[in-house]
Amino acid sequence: MNDKELVAHQALQYVSENMIVGLGTGSTANYFIDALAKRNKEEKLNIRAVSSSVVSMIKAKEAGLPIIAMEQIKEIDLYIDGADEIDADLSLLKGRGYDLVREKLLARSAKKFIVIVDESKIVKKIGNNFPIPSEVQPFAWEIVKNILMKKGTGDIRINAAKDGYAITSCGNFVLDFNYPEKNTAELNALLSQTPGIVEHGIFYNLAHGALISNNGKIREIWKN
Ligand code: A5P
Repeated sequence: MNDKELVAHQALQYVSENMIVGLGTGSTANYFIDALAKRNKEEKLNIRAVSSSVVSMIKAKEAGLPIIAMEQIKEIDLYIDGADEIDADLSLLKGRGYDLVREKLLARSAKKFIVIVDESKIVKKIGNNFPIPSEVQPFAWEIVKNILMKKGTGDIRINAAKDGYAITSCGNFVLDFNYPEKNTAELNALLSQTPGIVEHGIFYNLAHGALISNNGKIREIWKN
């Protein structure tokens, strides 16, 4: 079992009967989806799952999990997802997969949000390893870019085929920016308060706990 798989399996202990479980996106979350589907079937747990992206919805359907739409929920019991970066205060950077609105809605509406990562995701400051993504309404992107240029450098995200702009599942563009001043609280406030930004990749004060794997061992960090 590799470190991502190990930490995904560890997260299963927080699942119990009849829960509504939020499913994350990415390779670590995929291991959790497979493990959850197996346990749900074997132990007849009657789990219902809500996906954070179309990709994870397809994955969960293939694995045999009953999926419900976001429109059908008011809150969820548990959200298990990976992250691109995590710091010692459980601030996260997320959003390489473009579905920031869904991811943050699940994080915010979960009674328990547990992040599953391997040691490579640990950073001293959010933004150390990746630019910070902001999902922007298409008509607003140049105004927003101009505002963000006062604090950092970056540009609009290009799609995988490199023949146009990347478009999120909500039909928006993404601005990826590096900010030299890496104060998570201040950046969170700046991005949350900039009009035209629908959502951004800093998950501040949202995670309740993290399971972190390193060479076959797992450590945990919990919010008090
Ligand atoms: C998806 O939008 C991100 O927030 C993911 O949580 C992140 O990219 C983690 O992916 P891996 O588990 O593949 O590293």
